[in-house]
Amino acid sequence: MKILHASSELTPFARTGGLGDVLEALPAALAARGHEASVVVPCYRGLLGDQRLGARDTGVRLHVPVGTRVLDAEIWEGRAPNGVQVFLVRRDESFDRVGLYGEEGHDYGDNAERFILFSKCVVEIARRISPPIDVIHAHDWQAALVPVLVKERNLPFATVLTIHNLAYQGSFWGVDFGLTNLPGHCFSARGVEFFGNMNLLKGGILFADAFTTVSETYAREVQTPEGGAGLDAVVREHAHKLHGILNGADYDIWNPATDKFIPKAYKPSALAGKKACRAALLEEVGLAPAPTGPVFAMVTRLAEQKGIDLIFPVIDRMLSNDARLIVLGDGDSGYERELMIASRQHPERFVFRKGVDEQLSHLIQAGADVFLMPSHSEPCGLTAMYALKYGALPIARATGGLYQIVQDYDPAHDSGTGFVFHDYNPEALWDAIVRAKRVFADAPAWKAIVQRAMKADFSWARAVVRFEEVYRGLIGGAA
Ligand code: ADP
Ligand code: GLC
Repeated sequence: MKILHASSELTPFARTGGLGDVLEALPAALAARGHEASVVVPCYRGLLGDQRLGARDTGVRLHVPVGTRVLDAEIWEGRAPNGVQVFLVRRDESFDRVGLYGEEGHDYGDNAERFILFSKCVVEIARRISPPIDVIHAHDWQAALVPVLVKERNLPFATVLTIHNLAYQGSFWGVDFGLTNLPGHCFSARGVEFFGNMNLLKGGILFADAFTTVSETYAREVQTPEGGAGLDAVVREHAHKLHGILNGADYDIWNPATDKFIPKAYKPSALAGKKACRAALLEEVGLAPAPTGPVFAMVTRLAEQKGIDLIFPVIDRMLSNDARLIVLGDGDSGYERELMIASRQHPERFVFRKGVDEQLSHLIQAGADVFLMPSHSEPCGLTAMYALKYGALPIARATGGLYQIVQDYDPAHDSGTGFVFHDYNPEALWDAIVRAKRVFADAPAWKAIVQRAMKADFSWARAVVRFEEVYRGLIGGAA
């Protein structure tokens, strides 16, 4: 099959979170199964000059009506390090900016225009590819207009929409509907209109031939008022074409046995390297060695979803008995401030690193004993898969993908890979921390869990088969 993915993120070139990681790995995993898969992304600042991508101009020029204007875009083409073909939609006025979606905590005012333009260009690229593609696979709200455009224009592609996070919907002022140039009837309950606004994700859910979420659990959660972010009724109405498919982890990139970003390699049967990475991590962030206590860590977007609020009430207790805490995070300035203040109160034991740092994110996974994911909501939670692989045992709330990724440690049966808690409150988190600290004090027991965690397999092979089934079902149906 021939599949064109459309996404606003692609690791390692442009990413704010796990969406980019999925777009780096899934097309390559499809290719490994014999399919042809490529990706379209906006040409953000720095991409043209990035040697790893080797972008070149295809010469294709698009003149795209967006509302009353016609916007010009160039199509460039490159290859990701894993060989996947990448198309870039180049329009510097729209995409050559500091951020992907905004700057200094504020979304760009023209995001509706930017991603409507992007979605229209995706459709134009799809039409020009020869031999023709079978499926356009759009990701999140930034590409969610693609299925709407395909259906409205009766184009011969099957469309799949993957929702990585239902909380981000691409909801804009109703007047922005004019930017789509779609017929007026599309701005209705049966189209992209939602309570007077234009809601791009809702349009995608209605018009895609199938849609997926990034875990089975999340597919159930989004059908409830608590987990549906206002769209649960829409999701329920279309649940017949909804598939929950847990993401995979890319072990070519996230593997302590081969990771170039960490000072010493290790594997389940040879864990000395993990000790060395732990020491290197503490030194790197300027903390003293912690001979008896665990190193807790977090690598995260600083967003409400991630459960940062639960951390503050338990920090003092967590840091007792020689424990350390390292947080690498970027995002909400309120959380940044609070984390900064808390770290100043415990300068010997807690370091907060603000920003996005790929190398440090790998070193943290390798050096940490415990990886904190107290998420309020977590559609998948790729970092939990990475943490398992690096033997940083997750403390995770039982929500979304985390519920599938982390198994609670059960001393009676000597099973489990981490510490799971259910209620969203600091005491429930604290209870899990206490359990983790207790087991950490028992070195052989801890080592056994680490080895089990590192052997857990969340590779893409399983997920790719599920996507194949979805695609095949649609193409068969069309024929
Ligand atoms: P989400 O997509 O909700 O952010 P995931 O756990 O699925 O959560 O994926 C997050 C990805 O982004 C991981 O690859 C993680 O390592 C990376 N990441 C998040 N925050 C940072 C940061 N501050 N610096 C470097 N990488 C980060
Ligand atoms: C979103 C979700 C995260 C998921 C990622 C990749 O950003 O918040 O849980 O792992 O997408 O699908």
